[in-house]
Amino acid sequence: MTLFKGNLGNYKILMTEDQTETLWSEYFDEACHNLSGAYDETVYNYIEGCSLPELLLTKKNISVLDVGFGVGVGLKALIDLLKNSDSRELSLYYYSIELDEELAKWSLQSTLPFLKLNRIESHSDTNSGSQLSYEGQWTELNKLINIKIFIGDGRKTLPKASQLKAMEPVDVIFQDAFSPRKNPSLWSVEWFTFLKQISNSTVQLSTYSSSVSIRKSLLAAGWQIFDTKGFAFKKSMTKARLSGETSPELLLRMSRSPSLEIRDK
Ligand SMILES: C[S@@+](CC[C@H](N)C(=O)[O-])C[C@H]1O[C@@H](n2cnc3c(N)ncnc32)[C@H](O)[C@@H]1O
Repeated sequence: MTLFKGNLGNYKILMTEDQTETLWSEYFDEACHNLSGAYDETVYNYIEGCSLPELLLTKKNISVLDVGFGVGVGLKALIDLLKNSDSRELSLYYYSIELDEELAKWSLQSTLPFLKLNRIESHSDTNSGSQLSYEGQWTELNKLINIKIFIGDGRKTLPKASQLKAMEPVDVIFQDAFSPRKNPSLWSVEWFTFLKQISNSTVQLSTYSSSVSIRKSLLAAGWQIFDTKGFAFKKSMTKARLSGETSPELLLRMSRSPSLEIRDK
C-alpha cells in the first residue's frame, strides 16, 4: 500500500471500485470517498446532487464551494462536466478549503496535473494575519473556471475571504467534509449559518451524510432539507436549500431521534 506524508500525518492511497484513487487520512482515521468509487460518488453526490448539469443550461456564472479539497476529485469532476457540456460560453468560480497544504499539493499533482496554480500569500491591512491560497484558472475554448483553494482551517479562511470580498456569493455547495463524528466543526449550526450568509438565495447544498444530527444542524441554521437516495449501497443522503419546505414526514422522523444538532464548543 502506498503512503505519503502530509502536514497532518500519513495518507494511504487506496484504489476504489471505479478504478479512481482516494486517500485514507491517518489524522481523521477515515477515507475521503466511498470505496465503491471515488469519482462516481463525486459525480452522484455533488455534480448531480447539486443539479449542475441543469444549472449550466440556465446560468452563465456559477459559483461552487467544495467543502474539503481532499484528493481534488470534486474539481476534476467539475472540469469534466464543462468539457462535456455544449460549447456555450461558461464562466464558473470554484472555491475550496484544505487544512493540509501538503495534501493539496499532492492532489493537484496527482489528480489535476494539467492545472498550473499559483501559491499566493496575501497580507491584509488589518490585523487578521496572512491568507494562503492556490489560485489560477482552467480554461478551454469559451469555458473558464476561476479557482481558489484556501489553505488552513476553513472556519477561519473562508470568513476572511468573504470579508475581503475575495469570493462571489455561492450557488452550489459540495458539503464533503470528513464525518460529523470525526470533524464536527464543519457540520455545526454555526458553520451552516455561515454558509447561508455567503450564499445566494437559490443555493443548492448536497452531502453524502444522512445523519440526524447534521440534518438538525442544517434546520437550526435555517436550511430546508430533503432526503434522497445515497450513492451505491447508501440508503440516503441529504440535500438542502434555502427555499422549499422540509417534508412533515421527515420532520416527524427526526423529532423521534434523540440525536441533537451539533453546536460549536
Ligand atoms: C472527505 S475529504 C474531501 C474530498 C474531496 N471533496 C474530493 O473530492 O477529493 C475532506 C477534506 O477536508 C479537509 N478538512 C477537514 N477539516 C477541514 C477544515 N476545518 N478546514 C479545511 N479543510 C478541512 C480534510 O483535510 C480533507 O482533505
